[in-house]
Amino acid sequence: MKFVSTAAAIAVALATVSVHSATTVTIETNAPGAVIHRNIYGQFMEHLGRGIYEGIWVGEDSDIPNTKGYRKDVVKALKELQVPLLRWPGGCFADEYHWQDGIGPRDKRKKTVNTTWGGVIDDNRFGTHEFMEFAEMLGAEVYINGNLGTGTPQEMAAWLEYMTSDSDSTLANLRRANGRKQPWKVDYFAVGNESWGCGGTMRPEYYADLYKHYATFLKTPADNQPVMIASGGHTEITDWTRTLLEQVPDVWSVRMQAISHHYYTLPTGDWETHGKALNFPASEWFSTMWQTLRMETFIKENIAIMDELDPDNKVGFYVDEWGTWFDAEEGDNPGFLYQQNSLRDALVAALNLNLFHKYARRIQMTNIAQMVNVLQAMILTDKEKMVLTPTYHVFKMYIPFQDATSLPVELKDAPVLTQGDKSIPAISASAAIAKDGNTYLALANTDPDKVQEIVLDAGKLRSASGELLTADAMDAHNTFAKPNALVPTPYKVKAKDGRLTIKLPAKSVMVVRLK
Ligand code: AHR
Repeated sequence: MKFVSTAAAIAVALATVSVHSATTVTIETNAPGAVIHRNIYGQFMEHLGRGIYEGIWVGEDSDIPNTKGYRKDVVKALKELQVPLLRWPGGCFADEYHWQDGIGPRDKRKKTVNTTWGGVIDDNRFGTHEFMEFAEMLGAEVYINGNLGTGTPQEMAAWLEYMTSDSDSTLANLRRANGRKQPWKVDYFAVGNESWGCGGTMRPEYYADLYKHYATFLKTPADNQPVMIASGGHTEITDWTRTLLEQVPDVWSVRMQAISHHYYTLPTGDWETHGKALNFPASEWFSTMWQTLRMETFIKENIAIMDELDPDNKVGFYVDEWGTWFDAEEGDNPGFLYQQNSLRDALVAALNLNLFHKYARRIQMTNIAQMVNVLQAMILTDKEKMVLTPTYHVFKMYIPFQDATSLPVELKDAPVLTQGDKSIPAISASAAIAKDGNTYLALANTDPDKVQEIVLDAGKLRSASGELLTADAMDAHNTFAKPNALVPTPYKVKAKDGRLTIKLPAKSVMVVRLK
């Protein structure tokens, strides 16, 4: 079966009506693609600002309602999001984290300086046990990022032994003495983070040697072997992918099953002045969409190298940090990376997720940065108050895509938006057959002014129903005072005269089930 939809592109902007050439959207239901791994919906949580302390962990004695120290409101919201995977403890923090500082009685743990993120003291109340328990509460898989930058192979190997050994070893018994009898399953493990930068300012060749060195000693029980991840490149960089695939052999315990890649959306593209989270100029709506869509080139160029050097598709390409990065909120510690989250972030999330679906064959994990109170967060907190962001709502709307089978979507003659010498498509789409057997279509309209009218004229379609996220203002957002200012609304449309017409409002995200 083939669903053919036509974005008739009757663009309705407030009182004006202008006609564009028609856009054809073809969903190839007869040519299913790869399964969209649920871990594409993974989350990143680092010891950074109020991401963990306050955002997740408040301690058992806190006035903020909590279960064993984890705040109840946040846990409930995350459970509803069906978070499949958690990455911890960093980020840049990972390469300065010594796991022994975070085990044993909490009041006796070391106090360390978080030199990367604000220079604050971390009293290590949240360590391995707390992280693992949190993941269990959410039913999420775990991704531990090891310390290559300032740790030794012995320290890294000992951490894995502490977590995974069921033996009578001193480390396994130490874990038991600290309250955890059974070993934990460690699903994913990375050797360092951003080793080209905060993880050690290395060349890819030097890192490849270190990866082999460390991985040689990372031995875990046969039934508890994590997927091993090497730290790769970022943005347009491809030489890390090439060097790692050429230089890391599959011998001994040296397994390299995935290469990580990072890319952040900065409205200005400039690390000095990123651009504001709210009250931004209209030009930065467009530039944010354009910067986001660059992701496709980075993915394609890295995958081309992987297809050449790993034709059997054994190694995954994990975008394990992505999202918006704006100027820090005024008055906040700039090292805490706290930012508001608006309708524009919702569009960025949808554009990225649609791309990840498209390249699901290689991309089997991604982690948005970060889950709570940091960068493009799902959730913001202010002491006892909590608010869900537009990005949270998009992740929730997209739940049917977790473990769904992707369906190729072709957009022909979609309206194009132009600013200066740059252009972007007005419509982004992805489709999949979900585990419930239904076909889902995700749509995003990047045009800040115009409605896109999409006509699905496949004979047997009777209706499309789901949710829509949109607002009048480009920077519409939720606040602690108005937590429901921007929430999804139900959307339903029935076929008329054999045709199904979806009106996709300006600056909107929609997910519908097609019947
Ligand atoms: O997510 C914030 C930081 O961005 C991470 O610690 C680092 O890996 C990246 O540069």
